[in-house]
Amino acid sequence: MRTDYDETPYPSLSYGQTHPDRMATIATLLGLHPVPVTHCRVLELGSAAGGNIYPLAYALPDSQFVGVDISQAQVDEGHRLISRLGLQNIALHKMDIMDITPEFGQFDYIIAHGVYSWVPAPVREKLMQVCKQNLSPNGVAFVSYNSYPGWHMMGAIRAAMLYRTRNTQDPMERVTQARALLDFMAEGIPAENSVFGAFLQSYMRFLQGELKGANALGNAFLLHDELEEVNDPVYFSQFIAHATTHGLQYVAEADFADVFPKGFSEQTMATLQTLAHDIVEMEQYLDFLRSKMFRQTLLCHAENTVQRTLSLNRAIGLYASSRLRPESQTPSIETVSVEKFLSGSDEVTLSTDHPVSKAALIYLAEVWPRAIRISDLLNIAREKVNAPPERIEEDAQDLLANMLKAYTYSSQLVELHAFQPRVVTEPGERPLASPVARLGAEGGLIATNMWHERAHLTPFLRQLLQLLDGARDRAALLDKLTELAIAEVLHLKLDGEPVTDPAVIRPLLERELEPNLQWLGRAGTLVG
Ligand SMILES: C[S@@+](CC[C@H](N)C(=O)[O-])C[C@H]1O[C@@H](n2cnc3c(N)ncnc32)[C@H](O)[C@@H]1O
Repeated sequence: MRTDYDETPYPSLSYGQTHPDRMATIATLLGLHPVPVTHCRVLELGSAAGGNIYPLAYALPDSQFVGVDISQAQVDEGHRLISRLGLQNIALHKMDIMDITPEFGQFDYIIAHGVYSWVPAPVREKLMQVCKQNLSPNGVAFVSYNSYPGWHMMGAIRAAMLYRTRNTQDPMERVTQARALLDFMAEGIPAENSVFGAFLQSYMRFLQGELKGANALGNAFLLHDELEEVNDPVYFSQFIAHATTHGLQYVAEADFADVFPKGFSEQTMATLQTLAHDIVEMEQYLDFLRSKMFRQTLLCHAENTVQRTLSLNRAIGLYASSRLRPESQTPSIETVSVEKFLSGSDEVTLSTDHPVSKAALIYLAEVWPRAIRISDLLNIAREKVNAPPERIEEDAQDLLANMLKAYTYSSQLVELHAFQPRVVTEPGERPLASPVARLGAEGGLIATNMWHERAHLTPFLRQLLQLLDGARDRAALLDKLTELAIAEVLHLKLDGEPVTDPAVIRPLLERELEPNLQWLGRAGTLVG
């Protein structure tokens, strides 16, 4: 059963991992020569309403973006949003991927997110062909797909949902039936001591997150991702074999840290090394160990040389960002003593005794969400610890090694970038938020920030963000917010109770304004 994207559009959101910056960074680390993202050409296949590329077009004004989608309704919606933003460097075409020819143009980055597994085999074939024929010589393509072995288990859940909905046409009725069936199964299968039961529970938790409030967006995800007529997962090795037949080769995963095995015993690692003879075999065995069910793979032309041994020198021109905070209230940065740094989620930590690396991390947290070129970071951090001139080479190597080690372990520790967007940390006198973030806030509680990540807003942040057009100072913002609160567009609460008294509203807003502005700055939604 094919669900029409015109009738039930796909939620057109931004995906940080598809940013050309991510592809350029990884390609650079692997010895490739990607085109600078600030002046590049990007093609997105199956771009829906352009929600993934118009934020990029705003953030990279000197680059060109083209989106292709077969659904007229989604493309029309994209045109409406693009014209509201006044963007000139993006075009969305209502077009079948099957009709893309070499004359359509060459692109430095091609994105196909959520398409490969969800289209019939001939379109899949053509998608791969486009990734070859329309990719510039140093280009990088991003293709995501459902993968085995993880999808075998998911396939059992999909089969049950398809069976339950086999005689139902109405898309929303299908979602209702599928969700009711999931509840029934979750109730019936114990999670304890049952592999399938535990998996079902974790899928239900995922859906609950995805379907926040079972809203229209979440329902469309369920319809188009799991209940779609075509949903063909592949093994990673099969995907790479397919890419190889088209003259493409594997670069890495967009989640670069995934490429590096971790959390396994020494014995497991030793066996892995003997089983795997190349990177593809290694990653296929890792997929078996991790029961991987979704992949986001980067490809490039087979003629290019991917250098898999990481060299520190390739990272020196990159930018780093990090919001790690030292565990200690009084970290010692000038001495060689181990300091532990914590990530937001506290799941991963980083420890180092290198004074310059410690000073660098503390500085990066201060300027978050800005990224600093590593060569500049080296100088800034060395100045902070009064490093002796003769240590510059050693410091550079130690800092680079720590940055790379952190990045390849988890992007929660350190993020590396190939460019620095026009993002500002501090809200100025008349704060200005990116028009893309403001448009997101107008539509709901998700705003795409300048790094192409999604910022999740509270209702208060949502109203505030929309007001940050660079024309209002704090007094004007307070006036407007007070107006919204009195009109009950903005619902304020004090000690859990609704606040409606104008005499209480204003002082409450005065208290709330600054921390919320700071939050929006830290969330990467403000521009200079
Ligand atoms: C699952 S959605 C993914 C949308 C978006 N890339 C994302 O990840 O959010 C698949 C998209 O591919 C489009 N599509 C499917 N077949 C297509 C084809 N043959 N040519 C162009 N677009 C197609 C659909 O209209 C839909 O917008």
